[in-house]
Amino acid sequence: MCGIVGYIGNRKAIPVLLSGLSKLEYRGYDSAGVAINENGKLRVEKCKGRLTSLEERLKTENLDGGMGIGHTRWATHGEPNDINSHPHISQSGEIAVVHNGIIENYIQLKEFLVERGYNFKSDTDTEVVAHLVEHYYKGDLLDAVMKVIDEIEGSYALGVLSKDNEDMFVCARKDSPLVIGLGDGENFIASDIPAILEYTRNIYILEDKEVAVMTKDSVKVFNSLGAPVKKEVFKVNWDVEAAEKGGYEHFMMKEMYEEPKVIRDTFSPRIINGELKLDNINITKEEIDNLQKIYIVACGTAYHAGVVGKYIIEKLCKIPVEVDVASEFRYRDPLITDKDLTIIISQSGETLDTLFALREAKNKGSRILSIVNVVGSSIARSSDDVLYTWAGPEIAVASTKAYNTQLTALYLVALDFALKKGTISKEEADNILASLKEIPAGIEEILKDKENIQKFAHRHYNAKSIFFIGRSLDYALSMEGSLKLKEISYIHSEAYAGGELKHGTIALIEKGTLVVCPMTQDSLFDKMVSNIREVKARGAVVLAITQQRHKEELEKTADLVLTIPDVDSLIAPISAVTPLQLFAYYMALEKGCDVDKPRNLAKSVTVE
Ligand code: M6R
Repeated sequence: MCGIVGYIGNRKAIPVLLSGLSKLEYRGYDSAGVAINENGKLRVEKCKGRLTSLEERLKTENLDGGMGIGHTRWATHGEPNDINSHPHISQSGEIAVVHNGIIENYIQLKEFLVERGYNFKSDTDTEVVAHLVEHYYKGDLLDAVMKVIDEIEGSYALGVLSKDNEDMFVCARKDSPLVIGLGDGENFIASDIPAILEYTRNIYILEDKEVAVMTKDSVKVFNSLGAPVKKEVFKVNWDVEAAEKGGYEHFMMKEMYEEPKVIRDTFSPRIINGELKLDNINITKEEIDNLQKIYIVACGTAYHAGVVGKYIIEKLCKIPVEVDVASEFRYRDPLITDKDLTIIISQSGETLDTLFALREAKNKGSRILSIVNVVGSSIARSSDDVLYTWAGPEIAVASTKAYNTQLTALYLVALDFALKKGTISKEEADNILASLKEIPAGIEEILKDKENIQKFAHRHYNAKSIFFIGRSLDYALSMEGSLKLKEISYIHSEAYAGGELKHGTIALIEKGTLVVCPMTQDSLFDKMVSNIREVKARGAVVLAITQQRHKEELEKTADLVLTIPDVDSLIAPISAVTPLQLFAYYMALEKGCDVDKPRNLAKSVTVE
């Protein structure tokens, strides 16, 4: 939610800010803006719309200067318009602020400031920060920002520029991500690493309530008490190309094509001479034996991966598992204890609800094992054990390759626990691992066959409502297929357990209603065939997705059968999701939607 970037050095700031913002647009894209200090004068340009609108505007303005801050917005307070865009400026025009997060006590702070003569121009929560910094500013910008962060409640990543300070700016964070890039005679801040990766690989990751003073030759970090903090340099080991489209029309397609590689990257280093060895997972056999329950907590696509996790952990490890949506879990006072393990799943590692759910579980004594994609993210740093999904940067708002790797990681955890607990034999584990190793090649085959899905999408993109039905792991898969479709094609869709449809929702099935049926579970195949007959009897058009071995049989019932290479039912969701992702992609494309940046969404949800 919102991207911020900042620069100080010998280059002109504007091109650095714009290039950084272009890499952060996935975080929000309803407006954008920049502020620079040009010879002791603050100059601000901002406007509603995508970054390209700001770039157009900047062509006619000659904004010079080597220090500035920039912002790309996902609106929380106040509609997307020019005035609500960031940066926000203080009363005197001498302080400029960019912000990611939500200031929860902004109404009280606004009243305080209004009483003291401050006039508000925007509807945002952020504007209070600009005025408050001015209120406390007595010539020391760091001191003023420290006072402000002492007063504001909620989440923030902030970049603060002042007119008086031509050679320094200040940044701070709490519960919203912010990294500092260290250059030679130049330094950077950004909400995410890709924004500054073309300039530096040396990064400081700011911790909650840390504040930094940025000059071109130094970065000084302080804790909330004002004491200096010695930071460790984190070296980024991936390339900037990983966050670029590389010839594909959309990031989403590029990321689907990366699935075979990233699945391999997630399991290969963890199978050494046929033995499963999970790095950074230190939970012992004794602790696993004594677990009462496992909670899996996540949001969106990561939550759907968690639903698959529930099925497989219960099946392989014989440990009861509850799966929760993070925003529910954190407020429902869960009955979690130190005898339970919490598995947190997150691509970004920064999703606010998930992070707070983690804290809730931790406060109640639970051990935290997280499955995270972004190294050094808040969730990773707050966990006892971390299993990284090596999916690389995922830029498209719709999550694809991250999901496949989350599933891969969950299978590895389930197998590791089951082996330690003795609920499966080494031979059974080897068979599952052998199936896992076949998945990447299977997805390569699925991707070769994508035209079939495209043709089907071409015929059906005008559908008003689509149902996904499946049983067991296919029900979990249906949820993900349905979410993917609605988030990028804006077609209403719902996922149901195959047996549940007739308890009400079947009333909505009429002539021509499209029903998508993942059918990868051999033991439930016949039950699903009956469900297909039920919907077809009411006029539905059925798209089924199954293993090659069921094709002939299924073609007798479904209207179109898409196949995935033969794979064991237990492991099938990892490859069976790819046709669902392709289906959503082509439906969105046919409808002319912006596949990578769907309306109202942002990649990283760092607000409640
Ligand atoms: O970064 P996270 O995995 O924590 O994000 C969770 C969800 O916000 C995310 O999966 C979202 O649902 C995606 N847009 C789905 O494609």
